[in-house]
Amino acid sequence: MTSAITTSRLSKSYKKGVRRQQVAALANLDIEVQQGEVFGFIGSNGAGKSTTIKILMGLIKPTDGQAWLFGQQASAPAARARVGYLSEHPHFYDFLTPVELLRLLGAMRQMPQQDIRQQTEKLLGLVSLSEAADRKIRGFSKGMVQRLGIAAALLDDPDLLILDEPMSGLDPLGRHLVATIIRDLQQQGKTIFFSTHIIPDIETLCDRVGILVRGQQKYVGSIQEALYPAGNRFEITVRMPEQWRPEQGILAPHHLLWHKESLYKFEIAETDISSIAQGVIASNGSIVTLEPKRRSLEELFLDLSGHSEPTTERTLASPAP
Ligand SMILES: Nc1ncnc2c1ncn2[C@@H]1O[C@H](COP(=O)(O)OP(=O)(O)OP(=O)(O)O)[C@@H](O)[C@H]1O
Ligand SMILES: [Mg+2]
Repeated sequence: MTSAITTSRLSKSYKKGVRRQQVAALANLDIEVQQGEVFGFIGSNGAGKSTTIKILMGLIKPTDGQAWLFGQQASAPAARARVGYLSEHPHFYDFLTPVELLRLLGAMRQMPQQDIRQQTEKLLGLVSLSEAADRKIRGFSKGMVQRLGIAAALLDDPDLLILDEPMSGLDPLGRHLVATIIRDLQQQGKTIFFSTHIIPDIETLCDRVGILVRGQQKYVGSIQEALYPAGNRFEITVRMPEQWRPEQGILAPHHLLWHKESLYKFEIAETDISSIAQGVIASNGSIVTLEPKRRSLEELFLDLSGHSEPTTERTLASPAP
């Protein structure tokens, strides 16, 4: 089966500064996204995510390399016939209402009137904008515009969704809504390529991820392998009696990450789990959480950039759950 997205040595440079020096925003990106896959595109600010997405959407030209959508050159308008796109900063004619906007976009896509009407009703319901369907976009909040952008991307029932930070500006309910939409689309066999900074979204939604660091592709593969490096380290949170001290007993040799009132979080090895569990219970404590140690996105970027700092410093700064 043809891949939904393929790039080969895709590169983009911009001329910057008074000397007009070429600065690489993207260098030699090679990715292949299979049909039906949810692919997360991760990178810190300025990493080159939007640059890649704009090339895929034919909005800018690469300096070098090539990109294909369903086997057709991305620069050809026909390649985007089956693609829905959400830009990084969705912006619409704000004197229109969502119904008018979707009617306009549907007409531009040469959709039959009846399909436009049906899709408009369905999609505005899906993104929780039914009540605002006839209100001018001018009065919309950022999250409402973002959700409208997602409805617009889905209008023509595309097979491939290219979403530049779809969760941006959304509150937890909005993020949950978009995550549910992405899962449903995958169930329908659609391909979703989206950029993000938000780890839970990547973890729960993506089959694979690509990680960019300053325009360089540093990783393509399973997010589990990236976030849970081998080593079988765990984090255990225990609730202990008031008089208990971490220097005492079974947990004394282990690294205390943080504590707050009667809660203590330690980093432990997998082989120590059962003896620690017994020791905690024997001390009249209880286990609140036990989870594999996960790298934060910040740690992952630092490691991939080759600038990693001592782990303890960063884990000590971890927020309480
Ligand atoms: N039109 C432009 N002219 C000059 N430089 C640009 C232009 N567009 C992007 N860049 C530069 O290219 C690099 C990559 O930018 P890009 O917008 O692709 O990053 P990003 O990964 O999407 O970041 P963010 O998370 O902030 O959205 C940055 O250094 C940026 O300054
Ligand atoms: Mg961007």
